[in-house]
Amino acid sequence: MDEKQIVGEKAAEFVKDGMIVGLGTGSTVFYTIQKLGQLVKEGLTIKGIPTSFQTEKLAKELGIPLTSFSEIESIDIAIDGADEVNPELELIKGGGGALLREKIIAKAAKTFIVVADTSKRVEKLGAFRLPVEVIPFGFEMTERHIIAIGLVPEIRLNGATPFITDNGNYIFDCHFPKHVQPEILEQKLNMIPGVVENGLFVGITDLVITVDRDKNVVMLRRLYHEAD
Ligand code: A5P
Repeated sequence: MDEKQIVGEKAAEFVKDGMIVGLGTGSTVFYTIQKLGQLVKEGLTIKGIPTSFQTEKLAKELGIPLTSFSEIESIDIAIDGADEVNPELELIKGGGGALLREKIIAKAAKTFIVVADTSKRVEKLGAFRLPVEVIPFGFEMTERHIIAIGLVPEIRLNGATPFITDNGNYIFDCHFPKHVQPEILEQKLNMIPGVVENGLFVGITDLVITVDRDKNVVMLRRLYHEAD
């Protein structure tokens, strides 16, 4: 079985009857959503809250009932993929462009689970370019501010025109210097006017479900600090 399918389906085991479930975006969590669709058909009662139009469509096709923030106070569990995961369980996300809704939903969840095949595990974040979502107004100026804090941004394109997110925004994919600490960079980027959100997920992940070389499931848990 494909690594993505192994970790994706494993995550579905954490979903229990009655839960509000954040449904991530991408080719790994696809397997979680498929499994949840099957469990719903078998009688599992959940409500999903999707992180993208793509996931909303998939969940609807599978018959998973959906909800929204106007109807709920919090999310019991959110499950999502990642583009990079480091040993501290910090992430780069947004390869699919869904980082803003993904972060809103991950932050709202009591438990945030990441499903990641071995290709996503890195010692240091940054080989994958960091997605930064910006509003179209003044994006040229926002780009200059991003450069001024040491990043090298490139506008994401869809053919010849900028890629548009589900929120009607643009994305800059950014190289960043190796020595930069993710939590500092996350904050610095979000201080720039025009930046809506960036794909660094720091201190949010509770559990990463991945596999070892023999494709055995491995669970990496977040080490809690006293302040948590
Ligand atoms: C979507 O914007 C991303 O954050 C995805 O969660 C991430 O790119 C992982 O996707 P895959 O599971 O397809 O690699």
